[in-house]
Amino acid sequence: MNQKQIESITIPRWFDRHLHIRDGDMMRKVLPSTLNQRATGAVIMPNLIDPISTVEKAMDYRQRIQFAINAVFTGQTANSDFLPCMTLYLTDQISPEEVVRGFDQGAWSGVKLYMADQQGQGGTTGSHSGVKNLLGRYRVFEAMEKHGIPLLGHFEAVERVVDEFDREVVSLERDLMPILKSFPNLEVVFEHITDGRAADFVAEADHKINATVTVQHMTLNRNEMFWGGMNPVNYCKPVPKREEHRQKVRRYVTSGHPRFGAGTDSAPHDVSAKSRCSGCAAGIFTADSAVERYTAIFEEDDALQHLGPFLSENFLHIYGRKVSDEMMTIEHKTSVIPEYIGGVKVFQAGSTLQWKLV
Ligand code: DOR
Ligand code: ZN
Repeated sequence: MNQKQIESITIPRWFDRHLHIRDGDMMRKVLPSTLNQRATGAVIMPNLIDPISTVEKAMDYRQRIQFAINAVFTGQTANSDFLPCMTLYLTDQISPEEVVRGFDQGAWSGVKLYMADQQGQGGTTGSHSGVKNLLGRYRVFEAMEKHGIPLLGHFEAVERVVDEFDREVVSLERDLMPILKSFPNLEVVFEHITDGRAADFVAEADHKINATVTVQHMTLNRNEMFWGGMNPVNYCKPVPKREEHRQKVRRYVTSGHPRFGAGTDSAPHDVSAKSRCSGCAAGIFTADSAVERYTAIFEEDDALQHLGPFLSENFLHIYGRKVSDEMMTIEHKTSVIPEYIGGVKVFQAGSTLQWKLV
């Protein structure tokens, strides 16, 4: 079959397995992008300035999200059935009992692991309150394994001495592998995977491990952060890696490996925070046209038959979700990526995509 002739593709409505929407004004500005993308829901990241680290905070945050969704739809006949899938920000303090209680009460569906060093320096935006003593959290992992609570991990070494481009693989070997060995029934998601060695591990591991993959990590190699001068718009964490790693990750995805699923990690930052010459914020915004961007990648790799599982099916059950029985259609029709949305510079702004979600 010549895939160049495919004019439209219809798949179940999708699910964003990793999304940042922030709070307050920023949330109100970026949420319409996600709601326009026909996702049934998204895994909402808890790394707010005041991290979502308790049952009460998670319940309140969900309510603020729901208000914001309702506000987007005020005065419109359509309503949104977008369901936020809340996560707990794991700290050194929260007890195993509390983690289970929040899960049982529906405050969260998963636990997000960020790590920080002893000074509270983490590897990414909003990770200052992350776990400093991973071994000290093994009792939590034990309870999560027992109760079927997934661990969503940002696996990157945080020590200053570790080379930026090796952070993921160092954390894989030092942090993740021992967790998997100790808790063989714990469901783990390796978030925003970037390194080919990590991707090999996920693909072949004899453990309950899956990985989310972003648009940017299948599109950019590390040169794109520096080409023609420093490009903060292409800076996110983990940073894009060498070309061979980008290709390896992408090959697993577009060959239809079921352990890889869409998680945009779309992360809005005001353009002023992205333009700082010191301490530029990490994060790339792709939420405006996530579906079209992923579709273009699969088309380029002649792999549109694998798009549906990647966006809408793979390992959804670990978030307590089912494959949607509603469908969405993406047409071969051009769409142009806007420059800014609500003061956020959009990834690949101004370029033309060959697909449009109907
Ligand atoms: O680039 C990133 N931005 N990576 C993360 O892990 C966090 C995110 C954010 O919150 O902005
Ligand atoms: Zn993220």
